[in-house]
Amino acid sequence: MEKRAEELRNLLNKYNHEYYVLDKPTVPDAEYDRLLHALIDIETTYPELQTLDSPTVRVGGAVSEKFEKVTHRVPMLSLGNAFNMDDLKAFDERVRSSLSPGEEVEYVVEFKIDGLAISLRYEKGVFVQGATRGDGIEGEDTTENCRTIKSIPLKLHEPLDIEVRGEVFMPTKSFLALNEQRLKEGEDAFANPRNAAAGSIRQLDPKEVAKRNLDVFIYALGEHNLSLESHKMALYTFHKQGFKINPETRIFKNIMDVETFIEQTIQKRNDLPYDIDGMVIKVNSLSQQEKIGFTSKVPKWAIAFKFPAEEVVTRLVDVEITVGRTGQLTPTAILEPVSVAGTTVSRATLHNEEIIKEKGIKIGDHVVIRKAGDIIPEVVRPIIERRTGEEFDFVLPSHCPECESELYQPEGEVAIRCSNQASCPAQIREGLVHFVSRDAVDLK
Ligand code: IVH
Repeated sequence: MEKRAEELRNLLNKYNHEYYVLDKPTVPDAEYDRLLHALIDIETTYPELQTLDSPTVRVGGAVSEKFEKVTHRVPMLSLGNAFNMDDLKAFDERVRSSLSPGEEVEYVVEFKIDGLAISLRYEKGVFVQGATRGDGIEGEDTTENCRTIKSIPLKLHEPLDIEVRGEVFMPTKSFLALNEQRLKEGEDAFANPRNAAAGSIRQLDPKEVAKRNLDVFIYALGEHNLSLESHKMALYTFHKQGFKINPETRIFKNIMDVETFIEQTIQKRNDLPYDIDGMVIKVNSLSQQEKIGFTSKVPKWAIAFKFPAEEVVTRLVDVEITVGRTGQLTPTAILEPVSVAGTTVSRATLHNEEIIKEKGIKIGDHVVIRKAGDIIPEVVRPIIERRTGEEFDFVLPSHCPECESELYQPEGEVAIRCSNQASCPAQIREGLVHFVSRDAVDLK
């Protein structure tokens, strides 16, 4: 029976790898299910035959009360940023100045996946620990949740002791489906796939995580004892051991070609099945990496090129005033619906009256919209050249739009408030909403 269990495990792990990592299934789903159930039957009768690399653990084990802390044996560093081509050229010059004059450099250019960094540890080739990055020194143990991610191998092709790092993300399709379902069930939608991935990996019930369709790309080594010459070889090793690596990675010998590749990627960015927020440029040779070294916080041999926030133009149809829990009046821009960075935007906060004046926005204006930090839509500026003369200034009402009470401006504040704390319907309603919310008594 032990032999049969092992046979089934190996077969199922192989089919899983073909399906989720290589995207080339070789057996029908029904055959996979049949073998999986055969293995479940064996493990139910003989629980002692269940192993850490059994695909039956992918459905999600016991619910945790909280995540234990994990100290990273090799710190999980972040990257310095480049925002334009000049920053990139300066990076190239810094790299070259650390090497011998005229020494050749190869750059590996990868997509910067917009998810969250994860560390995966294997002992003798068996997956034993998954941890979030946390502050880079200490993360959270999310092993059980990682086991449910089908593109994370439970067993490597060789019995290596190795820690690898990569990005957990939620493919766009899964993100849209998840949000649709959440809205149907009266839950809040996630703002973007990154938040959805981060929220999912921090679920305490792995069975819930298993339903979330998370995916992963591996892009870095953590603790290891392999002797490798280049980052390219590391990526090849990941692939050979059964990890999923990003197929779009390219190698260039000069920074001009890196720039061209970045420009091409920006063009096709919105057609990808997952979100990227930039590109990562890494010196390929590991001995050169060592020569170039680190600052106190980040490697000097790599840099993250951040894409500019996507900006689009739409029309400001109206400004709506909402009265909050504390009586504060907040103007919200009502926009002609427009798609920005993957979602449709029809409202954007204008914060307060001062900001509308400062930006010189009129109702009826064509305005530039962008997502701050790619999440919260904001009105950047009006397009003065497109004015027709029919635009008009926004005027704050003289009384509360909900209860007609007088407004007041507390000294030293920009905010305008409704004075009717006791019975303004908006203040009562918003107070109640806050009372039951997650930040307060958290009623379901
Ligand atoms: S390399 C020491 N490669 O971006 C180098 N990071 O801004 C460690 N990221 O914390 C990181 N895609 O979460 C690397 N292909 C990629 C990446 C990538 C996304 C994230 C990662 C990192 C952050 C830095």
